[in-house]
Amino acid sequence: MFPIKKVFQEILTNMKPKILVTRKISDAAEEKLNINFEVTLNPKDEPIPSNELIKMANEYDGFISTGFDKIGDDFFKELNGKLKIIAQVGVGYDNISIKSAEGKKIKVTNTPNVLNEAVAETTILLILAASRRIGEAYNLVRSGNWKNQKPDLTKFMIGNSVTGKTLGIIGMGRIGRMVAKCAKAFGMKIIYFNRNKLSEDLEDGAKYYSDVKSMMPDCDFVSIHTPATAETKHILNVDTIGLLPKHAVVINTSRGSTIDDDALIEALLNKKIYAAGLDVFNNEPNLDERYMKLDNCFVLPHVGSATHETRLAMSMMAVENICKYFENKPLISEVVSYNS
Ligand code: DGY
Repeated sequence: MFPIKKVFQEILTNMKPKILVTRKISDAAEEKLNINFEVTLNPKDEPIPSNELIKMANEYDGFISTGFDKIGDDFFKELNGKLKIIAQVGVGYDNISIKSAEGKKIKVTNTPNVLNEAVAETTILLILAASRRIGEAYNLVRSGNWKNQKPDLTKFMIGNSVTGKTLGIIGMGRIGRMVAKCAKAFGMKIIYFNRNKLSEDLEDGAKYYSDVKSMMPDCDFVSIHTPATAETKHILNVDTIGLLPKHAVVINTSRGSTIDDDALIEALLNKKIYAAGLDVFNNEPNLDERYMKLDNCFVLPHVGSATHETRLAMSMMAVENICKYFENKPLISEVVSYNS
């Protein structure tokens, strides 16, 4: 190669913004990123300890992060101004201190919309599994004990029907509305609690409750679809759970912090409610072990958005946000703090 051209190419390479991808993301997204940036990938998907992440922040222009990374107030304290954008692969961003990011003029983006269907699918799966005792039924077959059971027509693995029941949705955002749409295929009646009443168009026939407590007695199922904020912490607690009917089923695909574990476990243990279906927990993956011993609790390991298609779309959206930022174009999905 002609040396001058080589020198120019090297200069251009050195000018490429440096991007750290904190965890393994979809191959196609990594390839796209490699075209325009100097990229550090994490092919082995090893978690980067928080103190390492803080040191690395001063060497990179952008991060592609996931919910596993702790990007709290401490992270932002020592920054030297190099880091410009954090593009999170995930709709939730409770692992990032948005206020601190704003204080340092660092943009934060997330990946809304592309996971609505996948999370709604998981929610419906939990509704069906919890009400039809699928955890118990599955374990029975796998244990080889099915043949030892009496096929009693009125007792053997009898659960509750879903069809025609009332589903109370806490948080009627994009995911909540997608869940409502899917649940209607089972003839479910939709009621909801939200910070604000939606327009008639978005409500699509759902009944609004302006406070969560008044909705509880009317729920056959209650499903949480709010972000994790101070406002939604323990929204299901001893008081709200205490207002549910005895046959009610609690579903959570949002964040563990929305539920007070002691209150829910006590209600499940003493049959104050019928069942729960949970994909998210406080202190994941070290969930409260009492959940695992409850027959009437169907548990999943936070797989709400875990489909090939969705994870690819989420990865691509994060990369697109990085590209837009360095092209000086509007970001696709910028996150701002609630009071901004
Ligand atoms: C999200 O996008 O926040 C999900 O919980 C990740 O699966």
